[in-house]
Amino acid sequence: MREAHAAPRVVTCDPLRATPGDPLGVFENGAVLVEDARIAWVGPQADLPHDAPLIFHPGAVVTPGLVDAHTHACWAGSRHAEYALRMGGGDYEAIARSGGGILSTQRAIASATLAELADGLRARLGRMARLGVTCVEVKSGYGLTPELEERQLLAIALVASDLTLPRVVPTFLALHALPPGADRNAYVERAAKELVPRFAGLSEFVDAYVERDAFGVEEARAVGLAGRAAGLGVRLHVGQFADVGGAELCAELGTASADHLEHVSPEDAAKLGAAGTHAVLLPVASFTLGHAPPPVAALRAAGVPLVVASDSNPGTAPTESLPLAIALAVRTYGLTPAETLLGVTRVAAASLHLFGPGAREARGALVAGASADLVVWDLPHELALVQPWGVARARVVMRDGRVIGRD
Ligand code: NIG
Ligand code: FE
Repeated sequence: MREAHAAPRVVTCDPLRATPGDPLGVFENGAVLVEDARIAWVGPQADLPHDAPLIFHPGAVVTPGLVDAHTHACWAGSRHAEYALRMGGGDYEAIARSGGGILSTQRAIASATLAELADGLRARLGRMARLGVTCVEVKSGYGLTPELEERQLLAIALVASDLTLPRVVPTFLALHALPPGADRNAYVERAAKELVPRFAGLSEFVDAYVERDAFGVEEARAVGLAGRAAGLGVRLHVGQFADVGGAELCAELGTASADHLEHVSPEDAAKLGAAGTHAVLLPVASFTLGHAPPPVAALRAAGVPLVVASDSNPGTAPTESLPLAIALAVRTYGLTPAETLLGVTRVAAASLHLFGPGAREARGALVAGASADLVVWDLPHELALVQPWGVARARVVMRDGRVIGRD
């Protein structure tokens, strides 16, 4: 397959083309030449190799496929009753302490088969693809026992083999909540020493929930180091409700990402910047929980690369829409539209080790040699992408050169 997609605006997100006046590296009247699964060439239409079959998209914008770098999209059941309680004044952490929250989703996972879990995830990823998403990180973490975590990771692996869905990046969320009756020290030790190596073939990253009602810095460090020893990347949930030292740990370990960060000190923001750790910002979760935004200005000033993700989960981010997170990142977190677009494309991919020096793959940017992941949007300008409030207008969504979504 060899075809060129031409449009009035081709938004490359190529760091080599970015300038202060054009941070997204846009070609007006540009074209992208796709050969099989890869991008072969990007440039002005006038310079297009003349034998390339041309598909012209009038009035459209072409961007890299969107990358959702933080989701809990493999789940079962429904938390609608709990949501109603919370909206009536019930407290998220109190409900979790009394056996709801993550534990309630664990019970739903326990009564779902592997096939049911895979079907649910497949359907969600299909809907995400139609919103313009071509790569999704998916965490386990609702199983909480070795058997159920494995069931989740196997469901994620089954779905990941389907090339008509977004590229899946699986993460073993080794520490999410302590199951009822478990001995804390034994649970953490088993996760680090036994489960991280055992599930290394089913995951690309490990994660832990570092929080006042979840796990502490020493516990997360054990899992992070075990992950690194098993050849995995490390991402951590930190500072969602309180700063218990998670961001500082991310900087110390040089993790790929520090996620949430509603509570982080300016000192720790500077450490994250120096460590090259990405901040994965999750505005849907803040919005749902009524939390104040992270200190975006401090993170920006510290040079921390900013990623925006959906956090798609049944409790704190009941959405599948990365476009909704995009809209909220601009409206409630004060990110610029260009920062946000980079945070759901190239910078998100880099946080997943899918772009940049040493990366296994190149995604999130329209550059020669990268995977042919792109979206043709029915929009007059790329900055209009932050406006449609969660309903993106994707005409054509392509992953690895194959159309996986169409309006
Ligand atoms: O990222 N913070 C922990 N985990 C999820 C929420 C999990 C849940 O409530 O189901 C989050 O917000
Ligand atoms: Fe999360």
